[in-house]
Amino acid sequence: MQNVVNRRWLLASYPKGLPSPQNWTMDAQPVPDPGPGQILVKAKWLSVDPYMRGRMSPSANYTKGVGLGEVMQGGGVGEIVASNHPAWKTGDIAESMSFGWQEWSVLTPDIFGPAGVNKIDPKLAPIESSLSWLGMPGVTAYFGLLDVGRPRPGETVVVSAASGAVGQLVGQIAKLAGCRAVAIAGGDHKLQWCREIGFDAAINYKKVADLAAAVKQACPQGVDVFFDNTAGPIHDAVMKNLSIGARAVICGRVALADRFGEPDIGERFMGQLIVSRASVHGFLVFDWWHKRNEALQRLVAWQQAGKIHFKEDVLNGIERMPEAFLRLLQGKNFGKQIVKIS
Ligand SMILES: NC(=O)c1ccc[n+]([C@@H]2O[C@H](COP(=O)([O-])OP(=O)(O)OC[C@H]3O[C@@H](n4cnc5c(N)ncnc54)[C@H](OP(=O)(O)O)[C@@H]3O)[C@@H](O)[C@H]2O)c1
Repeated sequence: MQNVVNRRWLLASYPKGLPSPQNWTMDAQPVPDPGPGQILVKAKWLSVDPYMRGRMSPSANYTKGVGLGEVMQGGGVGEIVASNHPAWKTGDIAESMSFGWQEWSVLTPDIFGPAGVNKIDPKLAPIESSLSWLGMPGVTAYFGLLDVGRPRPGETVVVSAASGAVGQLVGQIAKLAGCRAVAIAGGDHKLQWCREIGFDAAINYKKVADLAAAVKQACPQGVDVFFDNTAGPIHDAVMKNLSIGARAVICGRVALADRFGEPDIGERFMGQLIVSRASVHGFLVFDWWHKRNEALQRLVAWQQAGKIHFKEDVLNGIERMPEAFLRLLQGKNFGKQIVKIS
């Protein structure tokens, strides 16, 4: 494409602790041409997600990090502008976690698994939903809660970062499963939203003096399923309140983003686990990727029936990608953070 540039965010340095805007630089390159079997996609929306902190590292987490000078990794959705693949035509909408923080991306549809490309039906939902409730965060909430948390009707489900992309869905799916849902989040406006979408109780962890006591008060019969999005002090407070046979789903550790690559800090709960016979289960959505259509079909059905609602937090412009990402780590986002590109 002549006279069109592709603005890209490159990783400039690895952060120690929390990232800052200086960890990235923007450049502008000619728009690349797709090779055989590839498609050229113009981004309409890009996603920022907490997992990106793990990619800003030379060491492998569950997958390898971004190299210095490389385009920052991330998901996006956009329109196909050129195609060398028989199953994809210009005008189709493509979503992929391989998009990168850039305006144009060359993608390879035949890659299998999370790095692959998904064709999006714009009639089903606004296309940006494929980055939020109808995408990776939705699949996370669905399988993390239903397959790993295994909630039963009447049980109490506690979720941290409850107004966020994953958390707001976990609470609503818990309600659909017949459970009591308790939200923990860091702002009264966030907790108000959680109540509006059906959570039965809500705790502002930034305001209560004794978080473990607040969890006990909100969950007098104990916590049967703990969907842990944060680790840190919230984890410690909930773990003191597990019921007999409880399941803790360890989904994320955003509260410890400044301790990336270091051991978690806090209390140990071995004695508590013996008493409660609880299980603690690490969860990674990509282990369920082969079943993602099951989650997406049920999420669409619930959404169309008015049974789930979802809040997004939108910034405008590729210039704002670092800011959008840092908002997640600072708790400034209210709902799923996405960036509108064009
Ligand atoms: N394991 C997996 O496969 C998988 C997949 C997707 C996501 N995740 C994890 O799920 C979690 C939620 O992800 P998301 O995309 O839904 O993000 P999100 O909840 O939309 O945004 C992150 C939220 O984390 C909370 N937070 C930030 N710093 C915190 C701190 N120091 N203490 C407590 N809470 C803090 C903030 O909410 P408050 O204002 O409420 O504090 C912030 O809004 C993340 O840990 C992410 O890594 C895991």
